[in-house]
Amino acid sequence: MAYVNILLEQPEPSIYLLTVNRPKSLNALNAETLDEIAAAVAEVGKDSGARALLVTGAGEKAFVAGADISQMQDFDSAQAQAFSERGNRAFRAFELLPVPAVALVNGYALGGGCELAMACDWIVASERAQFGQPEVNLGVVAGFGGTQRLTRLVGRAMAMDLLVTGRLIKADEALRIGLVNQVVAPELLRDKGLEIARMIASKGPVAVRLTKQIVQRGQDLDLANACQQEAYAFGLTCATADQKEGMKAFLEKRPARFTGR
Ligand code: HXC
Repeated sequence: MAYVNILLEQPEPSIYLLTVNRPKSLNALNAETLDEIAAAVAEVGKDSGARALLVTGAGEKAFVAGADISQMQDFDSAQAQAFSERGNRAFRAFELLPVPAVALVNGYALGGGCELAMACDWIVASERAQFGQPEVNLGVVAGFGGTQRLTRLVGRAMAMDLLVTGRLIKADEALRIGLVNQVVAPELLRDKGLEIARMIASKGPVAVRLTKQIVQRGQDLDLANACQQEAYAFGLTCATADQKEGMKAFLEKRPARFTGR
């Protein structure tokens, strides 16, 4: 598919980089961009050689400054709900993607931008990044999963603070509250992303995919059922050639050579 609002590249054979590419509007998410994001994530998901997806925003200033306000301003209730559902579908795709997604937040991650980052498996922020759910300033609630993913990530009290005040937080506070995994200098962000993607790609591919699947599914299950899923997945990994290779390599004191089988 030819994309207009995003870029989908492969900086290295098994690593994808999705860039939201509307820098003039700080990468604001309109309906077309949401659909392209969903299509791109599906494209990555179909590549059995994919090992990781990096997600960022074009330009110096913003990761994504939110849903496109110029497109939303005249929405009636039904159009607004449909737009919310469209975004939810696009962002859910990151969680259903078999391989880990890593958000590289280079600037503002506001509203739908913060929600996009939170749909990824982890978040690396530049020192210049700022996060927030400022929808209340526009008279609306968050609509791409922010009320739920933020609460799961940082807890109810902090989520309520951010969602109700609409205040922006800098990268250091985002790190302190557990919203992001790591903060790096702006010029190191891309390299850090590639380093993480390469690290993921060096592990047993089946084990990484199953780990993501259980972590994602387990959040919606009770502990006993989630641990049962883990036991099942552990059994599956022990039926792979990679398990034999990984354990043999450990005992032979050499790096493992995983094949994804
Ligand atoms: C459309 C946007 C935009 C947005 C910025 N722009 N954010 N356009 N939608 N979300 C546009 C501006 O209109 C402007 O266009 C250009 O990008 C540069 O932005 P400025 O405001 O001039 O830059 P600056 O003064 O540096 O301020 C940066 C900013 C501010 C703090 C990020 O742009 C801002 O507050 N943006 C809105 C943030 C927000 O409220 N996000 C949540 C949206 S609601 P021109 O043409 O003038 O150059 C949301 C809900 C999701 O995300 C759920 C929906 C269902």
